[in-house]
Amino acid sequence: MYAKTEELRHLGPAVPVELPDGLTAWSVVRGETVSYLLTHPDVSRDVTRAVPTYETGEVPWLAPWIDLQNMTTKDGADHSRLRRVVVPSLTYRRIQQLRPAIEKIVRGLIEDLANKADDTPVDVHAAFSYQIPTLVICDLLGIPEDQRPEVLRVFRLVARTDALSEDEATQLNLDLLTAMRTLIDEKRAHPGDDLTSILIIESLKEEDPLTEDELIATLLLMIGGGSQTTINLIDHALADLTACPHARQALIRGEDPRPIIEESLRKDCPVMNLPMRWALADIDLGEGVMIRTGEPILLNYGGHGRDENVNPEPAHFDPSRKNPQHLAFGLGVHRCPGSHLAILEAEVAVSLFCQAFPHAQLVGAIDDYAGPTFIGNDLLELPMRLGNAHEAAQH
Ligand code: HEM
Repeated sequence: MYAKTEELRHLGPAVPVELPDGLTAWSVVRGETVSYLLTHPDVSRDVTRAVPTYETGEVPWLAPWIDLQNMTTKDGADHSRLRRVVVPSLTYRRIQQLRPAIEKIVRGLIEDLANKADDTPVDVHAAFSYQIPTLVICDLLGIPEDQRPEVLRVFRLVARTDALSEDEATQLNLDLLTAMRTLIDEKRAHPGDDLTSILIIESLKEEDPLTEDELIATLLLMIGGGSQTTINLIDHALADLTACPHARQALIRGEDPRPIIEESLRKDCPVMNLPMRWALADIDLGEGVMIRTGEPILLNYGGHGRDENVNPEPAHFDPSRKNPQHLAFGLGVHRCPGSHLAILEAEVAVSLFCQAFPHAQLVGAIDDYAGPTFIGNDLLELPMRLGNAHEAAQH
């Protein structure tokens, strides 16, 4: 993914790339151009405004990204209406209240790992990084235990951009909808103090209440946005730390983990390319590149943090870097409202992990484990030798 990003960076401010099913889009990786287009008034998140002939489901693998009726596919007032129902539950103050619950989850996972800690490699992705955000988001949304395996199955499949046939992609979309309807029915019958119940109640208070489709699409966004992204952050931060003894020592001493998390977000952006935006008018990017009205644009958030015009020596992991710049959470009105939660989870995860396993080492090279997608910076596994079991168990 990084090699391809660098190749594209040298070809121009925007470069046509072929995506699955023969779809062509403009890939944008230069930092300055990514920021420019993220806040450009003629760049839309709503395919129906930019391409009036577009029919829902036209490109099945893209459907979960562009067809759902939630804040990610809307502009202007339509966007604000869908966003304001969610944002109050994700403020910094609200999220900090979750710290004890998150610490409990992380400590439980570390205890399980400590029981295995010897010289045999352990898949830290499966046993740790994957578990934290999925458990936290399932708890936050009040997803009942018996519904969790199906919810998590369908979300793992959505994250892939290869291997799914058109029929499989269509079936997956149906499975997603069924899983969400089951959850909403359950919460309507038995409301609790979870985010799903709050969403149902708050959306009814709106002058123009959310429709069933909008409610489902918002839940899908919260689960999808809240899990795979944060899994990637924890995976990469742990991998980066194994190669950076200074940073690891700082965490072991109990120092603030925030600079480490910011540097990992910059170097290994959890969401590399998020489909999709469209031009509402012709946009001239210079160097002979003109994006025409209605053409799709794929912004590479990770390309910004790895641009040497934005950050010197961008491939180097250096938590002591002065003023690291990244767009891992986007920019402008669509900026991620879940950033406080993601950062808190990652801070707790890396601090407690390094304190418990001060000698953990990655087995192999991180590139060997890259997932089959150009969207997220996903890893399929993260094998590590955790070090001495006795020492680990004492922490
Ligand atoms: C490391 C973790 C995360 C990363 C890197 C991330 C990244 C992003 C990015 C790049 C966007 C899109 C901005 C755009 O359209 O340009 C976004 C949007 C969004 N994210 Fe996150 N996210 C993370 C965690 C979360 C979490 C934990 C939640 C929820 C609990 C969440 C909920 C959302 C929502 C609801 C949106 C849509 C915002 C809008 O369109 O107005 N995200 N995120």
